Amino acid sequence: MTTDTAFNITKVSESRIKNVDLDNPGFGREFADHMLEVEYNDGAWQEPEIKPFGTIETTPALNTLHYAQSVFEGLKAYYVDEGTINLFRPEKNYARMARSCERMCIPVFEQEVFMDGIAELIKLDHKWVPQKEGNTLYIRPLACAFDQMISARVSDKYRFYVMTSPVGSYYQRPVKLTTSQKYVRAVKGGVGEAKAAGNYGGSLYPAQQAKAKGYDQVLWLDAFEHQYIEEVGTMNIFFVIDGVLITPNLSGTILPGITRASVIELAKYWDMPVEERRISIDEVMEAGENGTLQEAFGAGTAAVIAPVEEIHHDGSTVRVHDEERGLIGQKLYDTITGIQRGKIEDPFGWTTSIEVNS
Ligand SMILES: Cc1ncc(COP(=O)(O)O)c(C=O)c1O
Repeated sequence: MTTDTAFNITKVSESRIKNVDLDNPGFGREFADHMLEVEYNDGAWQEPEIKPFGTIETTPALNTLHYAQSVFEGLKAYYVDEGTINLFRPEKNYARMARSCERMCIPVFEQEVFMDGIAELIKLDHKWVPQKEGNTLYIRPLACAFDQMISARVSDKYRFYVMTSPVGSYYQRPVKLTTSQKYVRAVKGGVGEAKAAGNYGGSLYPAQQAKAKGYDQVLWLDAFEHQYIEEVGTMNIFFVIDGVLITPNLSGTILPGITRASVIELAKYWDMPVEERRISIDEVMEAGENGTLQEAFGAGTAAVIAPVEEIHHDGSTVRVHDEERGLIGQKLYDTITGIQRGKIEDPFGWTTSIEVNS
């Protein structure tokens, strides 16, 4: 892609890349040399700036820290070859971020600033995109209130940042899930379908309790009946029951995942039966017990397709996958990662290629 937006760019005097092991970067610990910063003052987003990644000056009165008027996104840059880096459906991240901003009263910025800002950052820091299979450069856009004032009201000032971080695989093995009869992630009318910072803060305590019992994540159920499945930590959830791919419908409490949308589109393209509908935990546990639950996997940018090892609910446990993904999960993983890295044909036009100077 070519970029039209004018950026004020200040480059680092020396790259930090030599201090980082791109083959084993962990997740979200290291940051590439540059970041994008756009300020919102006097009722308008100002000129975008690209500058060295580093600290930002503020005071403890920053209202984002108190009232969480803050939203973010997560997408990745994929190494194709030394002159090409791919993004995967970035316009969908922008659209979701714009919706999240609206829900949290954050002024929406132009799509060009988002798309061109990411492209400029990748051009500058393309050497930070790991080449190793499974490793990528994670891109984290963040928009947050920036008034320094202790008052629970809509802010006058905002900042939009984009930072990038080389990352490895999110889950190294299948995940163990447990439901919670006590805690919920989101309620209808709340902010569950926005990528709002507070959603994540609120889910830490139940997730910590699940971890203490040996599970990786909570499989969230609906807030009214504690019966219908919603999603998992940072993934949407899919089941294959009797040859049908089933995922909870977008009810307003679930994050509309871009991987989720891609899984559904691919399955339909392959003429697989797909159902987006309410699915109860009892239905899944029964399918696990009577042998019709063939696969279960989480789908999200960080983990791509993460197989579920077991699901625990109300004293019972159903085992699904031991080491590997099931046939459908594996085919989805191979296709999505193949398209992302430019290794297989992209019949849907899902990738945006950025040309970089090798
Ligand atoms: C709560 C939640 N659900 C689902 C997802 C998966 O969404 P995506 O496929 O767009 O990464 C994420 C990750 O962004 C998430 O945080």
